[in-house]
Amino acid sequence: MDSSELPKLLVPYVSGWVILCLSALWLASELVRWLPNQSDVFPFEPLIATLSSLGFLIFSIIPGLEENDWGLAWVIFIIALGVLIWIMRKLKQRSIITSGLFWTVIIVFVLVNMFLFWNYDQINLRGTTIKVMLQTELDESTDNYATKTWEEEIAQQFKKDVGVKNVEIDRVKNDVNERLKQFLKHLNPDERHSSEDEVDVFAIDVIWPGIVAKYAEDLTKEFANKKFSEKFDPKIFENNKVTTSNGTKLVAVPWYIDAGLLYYRKDLLQEYFPNNDQPPETWKDLENMAKTIQDGERKRLKRDDFWGFVWQGKASEGLTCNALEWQFSHGGGKIVDTKKNGNEVDIDIDATTKAFDQAKNWINNISPPETGKFDDIDMFRIWRKHNAAFMRNWLYAYNESVTKHSGYEDLQGKVGVALLPKGDGQKASHASTLGGWQLMVNAHSQGKEKKAAIKFVEFLIDKERQKSLALKTGKVPALKELYRDGEIVRQLPFLDDDDDNPYLKNFFVSESIEKVQRPSTSTGDNYTRISEIYSDKVHYILQNNVADTQKAVISLKEKIQRVLDSSKSVDKSQ
Ligand code: GLC
Repeated sequence: MDSSELPKLLVPYVSGWVILCLSALWLASELVRWLPNQSDVFPFEPLIATLSSLGFLIFSIIPGLEENDWGLAWVIFIIALGVLIWIMRKLKQRSIITSGLFWTVIIVFVLVNMFLFWNYDQINLRGTTIKVMLQTELDESTDNYATKTWEEEIAQQFKKDVGVKNVEIDRVKNDVNERLKQFLKHLNPDERHSSEDEVDVFAIDVIWPGIVAKYAEDLTKEFANKKFSEKFDPKIFENNKVTTSNGTKLVAVPWYIDAGLLYYRKDLLQEYFPNNDQPPETWKDLENMAKTIQDGERKRLKRDDFWGFVWQGKASEGLTCNALEWQFSHGGGKIVDTKKNGNEVDIDIDATTKAFDQAKNWINNISPPETGKFDDIDMFRIWRKHNAAFMRNWLYAYNESVTKHSGYEDLQGKVGVALLPKGDGQKASHASTLGGWQLMVNAHSQGKEKKAAIKFVEFLIDKERQKSLALKTGKVPALKELYRDGEIVRQLPFLDDDDDNPYLKNFFVSESIEKVQRPSTSTGDNYTRISEIYSDKVHYILQNNVADTQKAVISLKEKIQRVLDSSKSVDKSQ
């Protein structure tokens, strides 16, 4: 029998069989005596013993009883031992068994059960506490409240369902670059200060698998089978596999996906463009529409803090994502591309210059002068206060825009979502940077903590939790089957791919070109350096209103080339 077919409550199961065999022997011997002369009293005692063995067996298969309930197992063991001694004494009195056999059976029974108790202890996670770092952020931020509450609820559910002692949620830094440094401090044994610093489960950015691979538990055995991986977008699943000198490792599994999209105020588009209230197709269209609405609204509101377009301009990963979208949508490449001879810089100078020049022009015209300091939360606040016509943001922003919060009037019914605009020129296309978060287990976690950590990951990506993540936080779950779930689509209508939503048709279900991957898998450990060089340079171009953007783009290209060259020479010397 396969061990998975065994009943979960092994103590009553084993006891049931032992008692059944012995009481059947007793019953048979009594019946042999009773049957020829039925005037004697019927042997009720062995019948009761037989029935009690059946009771143990039935009890062992009752669904819903806790498999690792240590206390229950002890109570059953004591009762079973009592019944066994009673039966064995009767068998000895009837001279069916010898005194030697009596003691042998009792000792073997106790030993088998002690083994089962030891086994319970191995699988029982009751005393176990795990520490996790997911998306509960250190600083108060827009979508943090919903996410924090959701994580706390899920930790409680896990405690109840799996029986662990506790799931401690540690807060993470808001900025993803800072967060990576924070995680590496926990992961790198040279930097870790005490066992207090040990975290078992991390939510990692889609761009980090290559960076954290050496600290990650290989999840191949648990999750890399076809039946499981098919539930996710293959690009995202495969991105979590990293090849090291020891072979390929599954560093993490997808948790939720992200993508950069254009949010627009439907009501304002209807008001200012009654004959054509569709979202802009090109960046030029967006500029014109944003300016018209901005001028009109400033006049109407009699104040000048209304803006046409808000986006992330702070020199960090967020700006890399925004600028990659401008560059790619103008046909300017994807920063680094893998060609026949390995990684090559992929920045078309003319198209990229055009894209950056255009963005440079937005600041102060349709975007706030402080844009260079904005992360997604800062600019989201402007949008949330009804002070912007267009916004580039991640997927959480829809739910947050339409959710009621004290101090804000919600934007219910006023928010449209579309693909980000295209650039000009023949190679222009829509582009959306692929983001998202994955779940990783610390390779340093040991024993029961490791078991509980893997169980927790499994728990977070099961259908029930993935659905509640979408409904309660507005994040788009990684499980593809949920993109068609009626309840989720009602709450996140941009997932709907019917004709009412031509701007995002099939965006989530197809592996379309519009989702641009940052070159993190191909550049591995070097990605952080490349992204920093890229976002610093773009920030410099935008902030200093650099006169010669082309010169700056050429220097950007050279700098990235140098990083790639240095990594090639390291490879060769190894
Ligand atoms: C979002 C994305 C993530 C990206 C980050 C940049 O959290 O999901 O992939 O790196 O924003 O700020």
